[in-house]
Amino acid sequence: MSKNFDVVVIGGGPGGYIAAIRAAQLGFSTACIDEWKNVKGGAAPGGTCTNVGCIPSKALLQSSEHYEHAGHAFSEHGIEVQGLSLDMKKMLARKDTVVKQNNDGILYLFKKNKVTFFHGRGSFVAAVEGGHEIKVAGATEESIIAKHVIVATGSNPRALPGADFDEKLILSNTGALAIADVPKRLGVIGAGVIGLEMGSVWRRLGSEVTVLEALPAFLGAVDEQVAKEAQKQFTKQGLAINLSVKIGAITAGKNDVTVNYVDDKGAAQKTVFDKLIISIGRIPNTIGLNAEAVGLQLDERGFVAVDGDCKTSLSNVWAVGDVVRGPMLAHKAEEEGVAVAERIAGQHGHVNFNTIPWVIYTSPEIAWVGKTEQQLKAEKVAYKAGTFPFLANGRARALGDTTGFVKFLADAKTDEILGVHIIGPQASELISEAVVAMEFRASSEDIARICHAHPSLSEAVKEAALAVDGRALNF
Ligand code: FAD
Ligand code: NAI
Repeated sequence: MSKNFDVVVIGGGPGGYIAAIRAAQLGFSTACIDEWKNVKGGAAPGGTCTNVGCIPSKALLQSSEHYEHAGHAFSEHGIEVQGLSLDMKKMLARKDTVVKQNNDGILYLFKKNKVTFFHGRGSFVAAVEGGHEIKVAGATEESIIAKHVIVATGSNPRALPGADFDEKLILSNTGALAIADVPKRLGVIGAGVIGLEMGSVWRRLGSEVTVLEALPAFLGAVDEQVAKEAQKQFTKQGLAINLSVKIGAITAGKNDVTVNYVDDKGAAQKTVFDKLIISIGRIPNTIGLNAEAVGLQLDERGFVAVDGDCKTSLSNVWAVGDVVRGPMLAHKAEEEGVAVAERIAGQHGHVNFNTIPWVIYTSPEIAWVGKTEQQLKAEKVAYKAGTFPFLANGRARALGDTTGFVKFLADAKTDEILGVHIIGPQASELISEAVVAMEFRASSEDIARICHAHPSLSEAVKEAALAVDGRALNF
């Protein structure tokens, strides 16, 4: 059977499924192929993000935060909890339900937008008249023809040599989100976004967490002032963070894992963990695309090579999301997916890489957009900085969460906002005001002059903007 489509998307993660929906909205006959299987072997679109990434991690972060609050924070409010207990099975089942709701939501959206969904692996066969032939290998095998192809095949966790993921003792993000019993001793290699989020989950639930990081700087890509505060807070919470380590042999025993490493003082160390999470970055996934045979070029790091418009080396073949250069973030993938669908329609889709927000969903949350102070210094840009602590914010006091601050960086001459950095409560939500401001090229004074609701955490954003000009009102 052969089917013809205007647009075929390979991969149904946030890059792919959003691209498919936008293409269908623009009037193209569209198909999306995704191979992810749920435990029953059924379709589970949504990719890494929905199945083993953003969504399940945030579900467990929420559950574990409730547990920690019930155990430690409620009593400050005069609420005493007795007999607190943890039902890990139920917590994991809730997380699985949240994932399934999202899988089903995407299948519903495909129906609503008339996107044809294929459950299976998509691979290039050859260029044919009118487009590209794509093979779909699922329960059955079919061949489809696409005028345009959008590759959105995502990424996979990077393994350490000699320590393959078995998802029982040596865990990638997949295993880290499905540990049946709270491990007593949890090792985490890599103090990046996954290491800190998953380390936080299991620490809150009772694990002793040891984080082993190769670099000397903690969260090197984050504004230094924020990274310093984060390290202080995480250490206070009980994460044992070891920087400048050199990982050696990792040996999985029957029930534990031994990690040999050299510490920051050059001393050889050997630590035994009940579980080990390895979160040292992710690699682009081009497995099974048959890229080489059809001449789809990859770059030197294995990403699908694209230009600024997400065009690949093949005509009418595009690529978006984790499988191409740029930050590995779901919202970046989505924006690229929308932009490509619009470009296919002859429109001028655009992704502004300067205003892509980052969020680390630890407690305190960390969020930022734009340049860090160290970047501005390195680029010799003259800037002014303004910070405002949550300690001086009425809503934060009422919430009982006054950790952290908001920091604005603005051009010394024009006052244009160059970066905003937040560590503290609801940073993930607060950052969007800064994203909007930067997208409209606002000045810090613009934010300082806008009326913010009282009492709200957003007042800390306004106050930090005021502080750029040395006129914070409440600090
Ligand atoms: P993916 O989501 O990886 O989707 C690719 C899909 O393509 C998969 O379903 C895959 O099975 C399918 N596929 C691959 N090859 C083929 C083929 N040949 N045929 C058919 N199907 C194929 N980002 C955030 O922005 N916020 C977060 O909070 C966040 N949390 C994360 C937490 C964790 C633990 C992890 C691991 C990642 C997290 N991320 C987060 C990153 C985010 O998940 C990715 O950036 C995002 O999923 C990338 O989307 P994508 O569409 O490019 O790829
Ligand atoms: P990461 O790039 O965030 O962090 C990896 C860390 O491992 C780095 O600090 C690195 O220096 C360290 N490392 C690398 N090799 C090492 C080694 N041999 N020994 C010790 N440390 C080593 O990667 P991570 O945490 O795996 O996450 C992958 C990506 O997924 C993130 O970069 C991010 O794009 C995305 N993600 C986003 C989230 C969010 O937006 N909240 C949450 C989780 C993941």
